[in-house]
Amino acid sequence: MRPVQKCWPPLIPSAGATDQFLHVDGSIPSARGEGMCDILAMICVRPAAEGGASKLASAAEIYARLQEKPALLKIVERGFKYDAQSVEYHPDWRQPARGDRERPMAYQDANGRPCIQYAKNMVETIMAVYRGTPDEEEVRTALAELEEVCSDTAVVQHWDLTTGEAYLVDNYRWLHARTAFVDDTQAPRLFFRLWLQVPDFNARDEQEKTGDAGSKNRSSC
Ligand SMILES: [Fe+2]
Repeated sequence: MRPVQKCWPPLIPSAGATDQFLHVDGSIPSARGEGMCDILAMICVRPAAEGGASKLASAAEIYARLQEKPALLKIVERGFKYDAQSVEYHPDWRQPARGDRERPMAYQDANGRPCIQYAKNMVETIMAVYRGTPDEEEVRTALAELEEVCSDTAVVQHWDLTTGEAYLVDNYRWLHARTAFVDDTQAPRLFFRLWLQVPDFNARDEQEKTGDAGSKNRSSC
């Protein structure tokens, strides 16, 4: 496991204190183990004076709602073309998307567990690929419906992290965000974010499926 990026909050000025949409980091639709971030860690050094609660939503919850909308699920499982390098190419991407084929936004891993790869800021980039094509309206409608599902308050968990607390989530199986916040200018909100890439991340699902996870990984603690 290796950290690929540390992002210190001073990079995000106070103008970013509004409520966030749920999203995955790296924000390019990727298969497990192919994206920029496999495991996301958010570490609270100092909470905001008011608000700033962490929001988390499981892909399983979102996928269950998508199953109630089979037409939409079919489209998001097929996915969308996405020219990542035109907007946010990063050298640490394992498989940068080039817009030449669809990338699923919802899919099931080797064990049949749902994964969601969604971030609202993908929409503009995806629409740029489809603008002027016969699929434009279908894609626009699907993305709007997906946004609605991913914004459903019923799927969102709220966690108030305080100093010294952290969460680590699977960046393919959990979406995250935070609520709006108000800062104490003398002691502004301070969270550290860490993106981790895990070698053979997807292969671990395969091992689990075949019951070959290995006793060496088990702990008696
Ligand atoms: Fe994020």
